[in-house]
Amino acid sequence: MKDSTSHYGKISRFNHWVGGLIVIAMLAVGLYFNDMPRGEEKLYWLRMHISFGGLFFIFLLFRVFWRVVATSPQPVEQAQALQMATKLVHWVLLITVLIMAVSGPLLIWTRGSGINVFEWFTIPSPMGKMPELHEWCETIHAITAKVLLVALIVHVLAALKHQLIDKDNLMARMIKRLR
Ligand code: HEM
Ligand code: HEM
Repeated sequence: MKDSTSHYGKISRFNHWVGGLIVIAMLAVGLYFNDMPRGEEKLYWLRMHISFGGLFFIFLLFRVFWRVVATSPQPVEQAQALQMATKLVHWVLLITVLIMAVSGPLLIWTRGSGINVFEWFTIPSPMGKMPELHEWCETIHAITAKVLLVALIVHVLAALKHQLIDKDNLMARMIKRLR
């Protein structure tokens, strides 16, 4: 289940792929509705984003927490500069996901609303209206999304480089248990 110095355990692999899917979906929907004019369609996608965010933000927080407490496998052999770049991009991804999962709920709670999850249940605001913090959260959520997008593009290109050019089987250690 757990990681060792040579492999990613089941929990980390589950977190990576399920968390990755959620992050990509949240990013795609957020960027999609953001440029729309006000109206029913924008509201529809915003509600989708909020509902999925309400369902998954605790999982995203857990995903980051698990990476921090779990032993990471040793990096694959490559030039030291590339190893440092890999570490940097992984940490940027983790920190931006953490910021998104905190600033998203906060930006709703600080305008005094609860997080409505598909009209199924609402996570009530633990705080009153805080307009100044609300503005901050909106700005942070928007800027961090762009940093996350850039890091994600670099990350996926690097994974493709390992798979197609280096052919070092790096992808396999995130897919199955390797010794
Ligand atoms: C098609 C999409 C993706 C592919 C092909 C991919 C591929 C990989 C691979 C092969 C590794 C192992 C690297 C190593 O062992 O050094 C890895 C690690 C990692 N990936 Fe991705 N990834 C994808 C999406 C994402 C997304 C959306 C995130 C955003 C949260 C992400 C965050 C990370 C992080 C933080 C690590 C370091 C190990 C960990 O904490 O799980 N990846 N990825
Ligand atoms: C990794 C997770 C997340 C990503 C990648 C993401 C991405 C985005 C993006 C790209 C936007 C458009 C921002 C802009 O340029 O103005 C946005 C807006 C928004 N997001 Fe997220 N988001 C995430 C998590 C959440 C969560 C957990 C919630 C709440 C439950 C949330 C609630 C909102 C709201 C309410 C807006 C509209 C903000 C406004 O009115 O300006 N997001 N998100």
